This record gives sequence, C-alpha cells and structure tokens, in this order.
Amino acid sequence: MPQQKIQNLQLMQTRLDKWLEFLSIDESTADCLIGVAPLLEKHIDSLLDTVYEKILSNSATQEMFADLSSIERAKQAQRHHWIYFVLRANFGPEYLVAARRIGETHYRLGVDLRFYLGTYTLMTDLWNEIVLKHFRNDCLFLQKLLSAISRVTTVDMGMTTAVYYDSQSDALRELAHELNFALARAGEFRDNETGRHLVRMSKMCRALAKKIGMEDQWAEMLEIASPLHDVGKIGIPDNVLLKPGALLPDEIRLMRTHPSIGATIIPDYPAEVIKIARRVALTHHEKWDGTGYPSGLKKKEIPLEGRIAAICDVYDALVSARPYKEPWTSQKATHYIQERSGQDFDPDLVEAFLAILPEVHAIQIKYSDH
Ligand SMILES: [Fe+2]
Ligand SMILES: [Fe+2]
Repeated sequence: MPQQKIQNLQLMQTRLDKWLEFLSIDESTADCLIGVAPLLEKHIDSLLDTVYEKILSNSATQEMFADLSSIERAKQAQRHHWIYFVLRANFGPEYLVAARRIGETHYRLGVDLRFYLGTYTLMTDLWNEIVLKHFRNDCLFLQKLLSAISRVTTVDMGMTTAVYYDSQSDALRELAHELNFALARAGEFRDNETGRHLVRMSKMCRALAKKIGMEDQWAEMLEIASPLHDVGKIGIPDNVLLKPGALLPDEIRLMRTHPSIGATIIPDYPAEVIKIARRVALTHHEKWDGTGYPSGLKKKEIPLEGRIAAICDVYDALVSARPYKEPWTSQKATHYIQERSGQDFDPDLVEAFLAILPEVHAIQIKYSDH
C-alpha cells in the first residue's frame, strides 16, 4: 500500500477512535443495534428508495448520477455500508477502508457537506419513523435505540465527510508541490544544473533530517522546500550565470547575490514550509567556519535546514554530470564531504550523512538522470 494511503488510514483511525469515545459508542451501543438489525435490514430498501427519490428530485444532486445503473450501484453500496457497518456499530479496520473509498468517490463526484447533511438527516428521520412504530411501548429501549442510531449516523457522516475534505487538501498539496517544483526548475534551468538534481537533493535532505531525529513532518517540509534553494538564480544575468570560464571578482559578487534574491522571491509568509524554503535559499552557501555567503554565518548560527541542504546540494552536484565536468564517483564525492567537515559543513551532519550513504545511493539510482 502506498505510504500516503497508510498515513491516511492511520490518521483516520486516530480520528475514529476519538469520535467513538466522544460519542460514547461502545459495545452496549453495538448490542442495542444488533438486536434490531433484522428489522432495520428489512426496511433498508424502501428507505434507500425514498432517499434516492429525494436526491433525484433535486437538480443540484441529480447531476451526480450518469444513468440508472449508476444509481442502482450507489444504492447497493449504501445498502451494504449501512447494514454491515453503520447499523451494527461495526467500526473496525474494514470500515475505515470502506469509509475512505466512499469519501474519495464522493470527492470525485463533488458530493460535499451540504449533500451529506441533507441525506443523513433524511436517513435518520426515516430510521426514527421505523423504530418509533415498533417500539413505542418501550420508552426506555426506544430512547436508547434512537440515541444509538443518531450517534452511529453522526460518526459515519463525520468520517466520510472528513475523507472528502482530506482528498481536497491532498489535491491542493499536490498542486502546491507541482507549483513549487515549477518555480524551483525555473531557477535551475537557467543554470547548468539539470535533470533530477532537485528531486535527489530534496530526498537526501529528508533522509538526513530523519537520521538526526527530526520529526517526519519537518523532514517532509524540508523535502518540499529544499528544491527552491537556487530559485534566486532567476535574477542573475545570463552573461554571468552561463559564462563558461572563470568568473571575474565583480561577477562572483553578483553570483553570490542569488541566495538573497531567492529570499526575496520566496514570500515572507507565516506557513512553516515557506519559512524553511526561505531559510534554505538564503543560507545554503553559508559555511560552518564562517567563510560562506551572503552573511558569513558560523556554526549553529546557520539554520539547520541550510546546513542540511548545503551537504546534500554539494554532494549531488558532485556526483552529477554537468556540461563542464564528468560526474564524480560516490566515493570521491563522499571523501570530499568528509574532507570539508568542520570547514564547509556541520561535522555532526556529515557523520549522519555518512551513516545514510546506502539510502543516498538508493536515491541516486532511483532518480538517476539516465
Ligand atoms: Fe546556490
Ligand atoms: Fe543545487
């Protein structure tokens, strides 16, 4: 199962556990419902007929169904979902997978919260009608049953709606990721750096962050943010950026403005991932011994993200082919990083980088330019 899907399921499980606890859904709820399951099952078809009649009588919701067979399929799926999961308070692992599938399908169809509230309210009304008719003489049981139905319905509505909005935020995240890479590439394409350097260096940054014990979320943000390290090269004139020979002192000065330009291009925005991107752009050429640029920061004055990006950027640039140089072997590049430890690079990070070399090599192979 892909990593993202597993994470989503874990997130859903945590959310579900909290909701079950908050809504006091426990074994007694399940027992109460299972006792009347045959009765509820007997009525499910006519109940779903009423609900779908209502859906199809509304111009906004009827458009969601292409034809009669898709309505029939939806009804069957709902039937199974209610009977097997909701009306038995059966909220185990199978339920999570089913709720996710429903939420994702509804996201594709554009079935949002308004629609959910409408249909779930109607469903609850219809269930209430049925149980009232059958248990009106047993007030205590009736109250327990109505409460159980209302609570399991709420959980199901909550879970599937949450998946709907998770899918929406996943899509936005993907878009942000794509735009981010597009901007980063704009910086890199003007330079000689090509191919999948950005993907490799950002994955190495993530691996290194994880190795030193940073949280998953921070490591992921660094992976997203670090490809923007050279975005400031957009602002460097071609005659300097693309000059084949050695640069003159004035040209070096100009070239060294790219970190500051990068920090101007990346907005000063409160989101942490944007802040990380700005700091990486601004500090990836600072050196541990204070001889880097643009600010000559020393040791831990250099933000962690800048120190991590410096190692991964240099290492991957060394092992990559450039128009002006052959790729270095991993061994030679590793040796260089080791040699510059304590001068260019944070010694602790170099040590951690050496410890993840197998992972670094796997990234090089998986995202190779050829
Ligand atoms: Fe740079
Ligand atoms: Fe780079």
